[in-house]
Amino acid sequence: MKFFADTADLADIRELMDTGLLDGVTTNPSLVKKSGGDFIETVTEIARICPGPVSAEVIALDHAEMMREAEVLRRIADNITIKVPLTIDGLKTCKALTSDGTMVNVTLCFSANQALLAAKAGASFISPFVGRHDDVGYPGMELIADIRMIYDNYDFGTEILVASVRSPIHVHESAKLGADVMTAPPSVIRQLFSHPLTDKGIAAFLKDWEATGQKIG
Ligand code: E4P
Repeated sequence: MKFFADTADLADIRELMDTGLLDGVTTNPSLVKKSGGDFIETVTEIARICPGPVSAEVIALDHAEMMREAEVLRRIADNITIKVPLTIDGLKTCKALTSDGTMVNVTLCFSANQALLAAKAGASFISPFVGRHDDVGYPGMELIADIRMIYDNYDFGTEILVASVRSPIHVHESAKLGADVMTAPPSVIRQLFSHPLTDKGIAAFLKDWEATGQKIG
């Protein structure tokens, strides 16, 4: 499963890139607002730091304007993935862009039928929002299981990108269900590394090692 960072914070992206485990980045207008930076400058820098797919979202709601904005965004770098909302105009834009070889991430997916439409439109990634589903009392991970089954039934190449990840449990469940990618806030990615028994084990080994009085090398 690929790991994307769901952020527009450059320091966080640099730090996660240093682990060698980050495969891409997703941004959205809310994350850009939170970062406080200029949208184009921020996305340009992210695409420079991270060679993997970097999602940048169009703001327009109509197809013609989405195409115009996508043109501006895809000129930034080859690894820019155009993010479009799951609407009729969004999917028209998806079809046009992917036919032309541009990567597209279809966002704001909340049903398996929407995911089916995105795959038929040639989407590179579909982003089902699991956390926002949980927030309204629907188990978000069930949507991932449904989409996985449907995509496998028809051999769709669209990658399932689990979005709106809120905790390590979402990551664990995504991997068990065979999601292709998950995108999580840097804080959640950092949580994945830690376990109290790992910390306790290191402390015990260090204490015993010191008692031997030995050195390596
Ligand atoms: C990423 O592509 C999505 O925009 C993001 O995961 C949404 O997360 P949120 O529901 O926490 O805002």
